[in-house]
Amino acid sequence: MSILVTGGAGFIGSNFVIDWIAATGEPVINLDKLTYAGNPGNLRTLDGDARHRFVRGDIRDCALVAGLLAEHRPRAIVHFAAESHVDRSIHGPAEFIATNVDGTFALLEAARSHWEGLEGQARERLRFLHVSTDEVYGSLAPGDPPFREADAYRPNSPYSASKAASDHLVRAWHHTYGLPTLTTNCSNNYGPFQFPEKLIPLVIGNALSGAPLPIYGDGLNVRDWLYVGDHCAAIRTVLERGRPGGTWNIGGWNEMANLDVVRSICRLLDEMHPGSPVVPHEKLIHFVKDRPGHDRRYAIDAHRIERELGWKPAESFESGIRRTVRWYLDHQDWVSEVSSGAYRAWIEKNYGAR
Ligand code: NAD
Ligand code: TYD
Repeated sequence: MSILVTGGAGFIGSNFVIDWIAATGEPVINLDKLTYAGNPGNLRTLDGDARHRFVRGDIRDCALVAGLLAEHRPRAIVHFAAESHVDRSIHGPAEFIATNVDGTFALLEAARSHWEGLEGQARERLRFLHVSTDEVYGSLAPGDPPFREADAYRPNSPYSASKAASDHLVRAWHHTYGLPTLTTNCSNNYGPFQFPEKLIPLVIGNALSGAPLPIYGDGLNVRDWLYVGDHCAAIRTVLERGRPGGTWNIGGWNEMANLDVVRSICRLLDEMHPGSPVVPHEKLIHFVKDRPGHDRRYAIDAHRIERELGWKPAESFESGIRRTVRWYLDHQDWVSEVSSGAYRAWIEKNYGAR
């Protein structure tokens, strides 16, 4: 048996592939286009491991996907591949529609055609797990209850709108064709291999080099942070025990204002890296012009996955962020490898005019 993973060279996908092989020993076919966010170096610990087969390609390449499904007959497709950064979606939404909407559509069609040709146990057991985000639900006011699975979708950014569209396609492919889909909507992840354009790795990197720590607006936007290893464990749980057609919210019950996240990183770096150019690191905090349409608050009600499937996060924010800062301190070579010329051009585009 094997599974097909899309986007397995990105942040969450590569953590998932590594954790999956360690936890189950089951082979993975890893299909990834290797955009700026995909890095085969994330999977170096699997070099020479026959249980990992990497294929460079686009999820929109129907012939390629059909060929992989026919050749490997995976028992599941776990779909991470996406454009994932809200700020990039504001500067250039087209890629988000192409990969997140058209790409998910192409993958669903390939999965459907494959599944319809299966028989017996192989047909019974196939699953299509779609990895989505809490951002599809829109923004919460301070006293609102956290997002539940039945809440209406109110996406506000090109990124979240494209993910919401893909969730709707997955729902329809189950409802209309009976494709055995599972959908997860997770809160903000952090941990090893996160591309340094996202808040937590960006702040660690800037703090280490004595550069300003850009906080959008007043820094009081709230996110519900989950350690990436806990997200990977939740996806494994949904895959094993989730009932087809279901959706599960995944979160760490850990709402924090951005400013508090940044301060906690600064305090850890004061302790773990006192030799930085500017200490205490908090002196580098710098408020910049807000992101247009910036959602104020996300929070996940994770009761359903806890109750129905028995999943709970293993890491607290304190333990997870300490592991994450340690990882970035120990993997500065990885950071320089992914921070190419193209990355520097992005930093100039996003922060130059702020
Ligand atoms: P990422 O940007 O780090 O990785 C995306 C991966 O997809 C990259 O390896 C990229 O090369 C690949 N990819 C992009 N377009 C492709 C295409 N057309 N064909 C094949 N591969 C392609 O993203 P991430 O943060 O790891 O997120 C993974 C998934 O989880 C996404 O679907 C995202 O919406 C979802 N998600 C992310 C978070 C988060 O906090 N990062 C939270 C909830 C859900
Ligand atoms: P991000 O990591 O981009 O995730 P998302 O927007 O998908 O939640 O950002 C997390 C929060 O941090 C979000 O409220 C925007 C804020 N932020 C900053 O204040 N400064 C930054 O430089 C970045 C990248 C994000």
